[in-house]
Amino acid sequence: MEAALKACWNERKALVEQTLKQELYREAPLDAKLAESMEYSLMAGGKRLRPILVMAAADAVGADGAQFVTTGCALEMIHTYSLIHDDLPAMDNDDYRRGKLTNHKVYGAGLATLAGDALLTLAFEVLLRQTGVSDATRLAVVREMAMAAGMNGMVGGQAIDLASEGHRIPMELLKKMHMGKTGALFRAAIRSGAILGGANDAQLAALTRYADAFGLAFQITDDILDVVGDEAAIGKPVGSDERNHKSTYVTLLSLEKAQALAQETVDDAISALDGFGDEAAFLRGLVQMLIERNH
Ligand code: IPE
Ligand code: IPE
Ligand code: MG
Ligand code: MG
Ligand code: MG
Repeated sequence: MEAALKACWNERKALVEQTLKQELYREAPLDAKLAESMEYSLMAGGKRLRPILVMAAADAVGADGAQFVTTGCALEMIHTYSLIHDDLPAMDNDDYRRGKLTNHKVYGAGLATLAGDALLTLAFEVLLRQTGVSDATRLAVVREMAMAAGMNGMVGGQAIDLASEGHRIPMELLKKMHMGKTGALFRAAIRSGAILGGANDAQLAALTRYADAFGLAFQITDDILDVVGDEAAIGKPVGSDERNHKSTYVTLLSLEKAQALAQETVDDAISALDGFGDEAAFLRGLVQMLIERNH
């Protein structure tokens, strides 16, 4: 990763870590074990890509992204909830996540389910704590997040994923599944950051194109890493998709074709930013780094 990109990433990541913990414990917890299980997954050291994207999108339209870390953290809570539920025995039944035992392995499926529920709900409370913007802007962001998280976004994509286990699905449906289960939260990250930063309609449309390409490239790479990744580096089991008989870009296309499609999709994302100057340098670097990642 380019040094400047890495430095910016680390700085923003540190801000996210600090804010996440602060927002989790703003009120004294009613149930200490529940709070502990939420903290276990939330503070387990994810890449923090979605909050970083919220801030980077605001930077791209000329704002100071760091002031929107609150919204980024809310989205990271939604993302973490989706991972806890995704790993449950009734879903992907995975034992490791972010280099640690999965939530249900430590706290049991019941409390893990509740930790996910509580993170999702807390996220909406945290969204309302975003300062420095009008109520109308805050509401627009809440709407983005609600739509992205729900039946026509992440959860809808996860439902297609579940229903597709055990058989090959058409490429069109695979794309829809990816745009839902993974793409929707990336779209919400970028659009929320852009809206908070005061994007005009043309900027918002361009950044939405970037987000959709980013999300697709990200999930294609996730599918590739599930086959060729190094378990220690990615912090979750490889071969999970094969074990669960999932349709993925690798199984429908082949490894080489999936890799080529990922690069093509990255190029689409970068060209969506043609109208932007240096303020979007981080977004350009990020998407290329995305498919070169090993975790
Ligand atoms: C993993 O997301 C789940 C998918 C949407 C494929 P990340 O790869 O961003 O996971 P963390 O947050 O870094 O653990
Ligand atoms: C699910 O995709 C992503 C969500 C949690 C919505 P995967 O099931 O491929 O994610 P990983 O590989 O377990 O992180
Ligand atoms: Mg899954
Ligand atoms: Mg999974
Ligand atoms: Mg996967």
